[in-house]
Amino acid sequence: MRTQIAIIGSGPSGLLLGQLLTVAGIDNVILDRVGKDYILGRVRAGVLEEGTVGLLDEAKSARRLHAEGLPHDGFSLAFDGRDHRIDLHGLTGGKRVTVYGQTEVTRDLMVEREASGTLTIYDAVNVTLHDFGGNAPYVTYEKHGVTHRIDCDFIAGCDGFHGASRKAVPEKAIGTFEKVYPFGWLGLLADVAPVNHELIYANHPRGFALCSMRSATRSRYYIQCSLDEKVEDWSDDRFWDELRRRLPAHHAQALKTAPSFEKSIAPLRSFVAEPMRLGRLFLVGDAAHIVPPTGAKGLNLAASDVHYLFEGLREFYGERSGAGIDAYSQKALARVWKAVRFSWWMTTMMHRFPDTGDFDQKIQEAELDYLTHSRAASTALAENYVGLPF
Ligand code: APR
Ligand code: PHB
Repeated sequence: MRTQIAIIGSGPSGLLLGQLLTVAGIDNVILDRVGKDYILGRVRAGVLEEGTVGLLDEAKSARRLHAEGLPHDGFSLAFDGRDHRIDLHGLTGGKRVTVYGQTEVTRDLMVEREASGTLTIYDAVNVTLHDFGGNAPYVTYEKHGVTHRIDCDFIAGCDGFHGASRKAVPEKAIGTFEKVYPFGWLGLLADVAPVNHELIYANHPRGFALCSMRSATRSRYYIQCSLDEKVEDWSDDRFWDELRRRLPAHHAQALKTAPSFEKSIAPLRSFVAEPMRLGRLFLVGDAAHIVPPTGAKGLNLAASDVHYLFEGLREFYGERSGAGIDAYSQKALARVWKAVRFSWWMTTMMHRFPDTGDFDQKIQEAELDYLTHSRAASTALAENYVGLPF
């Protein structure tokens, strides 16, 4: 088989890139080692920047997003028993974010891809990248015991942090930067009305908490926990009690609960691999970078990578110019590092670190005080949260 772009990974990165390429008439094939249902079973955040919404519009995959997504003009920071609203809309000249689960973004892209008839090969095992340092790269994979080969012009490594693409690059050709945080997030999903119409990020002496949502009837809550916690030790009642302790009294009293249908613990890390282009291989999304979920940047960074790569490939095939793809890594990394900084900063500001000394704690409190009393400081937070320009 031959295609123009072989995409490894059918998550948001691979599906969004594939859909944009298909709409632009550029042939592509997506390979994934698991099946659709497994991918759709993943629980992930869903706060979309306007740039991400625009790309989904361009990919003709945003109809349900516009019908069901929740526009949010602000969110609250809670500390010292009080709420402090960050007016995203007012501070950024009218920008907002849209709350819409990543699973739904993935589902919408899958539906449009199937409708377009563009090939996705699920359950493709042992995907291997070949000759991406030359001009004739190809990918091999096994399915039902048979080995297949796909020749292509370029390979898009959209296969996430644990994928094969980054690992296929010789160690001396790639540099990595990493920070692992000394805590995790215990998250819970329940079909119950959210405690607030906007998100609440809470900094409490007992630890961080986040009140989010998937819809007006489905809530998503998180509490910071130590890395040796086991999810089986957390009954729903224990979770709700701990969440209430970390929220201002009026929210704790208003909190509605219901049996959880998903509960899990996720570690937090910051990670960047450079460069994001190695010959005819492009690393995209989580394959190239990971951010702690505090700033809700994971999906949005995948989208901006896809934007830069898609524009470069469209220019390559349309104008026979390599300028766009040559600039991909530098352009993508410039935005990645600013989002990595923001996610690190928000994580540092909102969490209680086990080794925090008295001085560091006073600095954190001063940061929150300055942030909620300075228009300049809250504007900086707001412009990063709604998303810096592509
Ligand atoms: N071969 C084929 N497919 C693979 C391989 C492999 N060796 N390794 C991983 N994959 C597939 C996974 O099954 C998954 O469907 O690649 C896909 C990667 O999807 P994601 O991990 O979701 O990464 P990405 O598409 O970049 O989306 C980033 O997802 O994890 C969240 O927070 C993250 O919101 C961000 C978004
Ligand atoms: C979520 O709804 O899962 C969510 C929202 C905002 C975040 C992180 C997670 O910053």
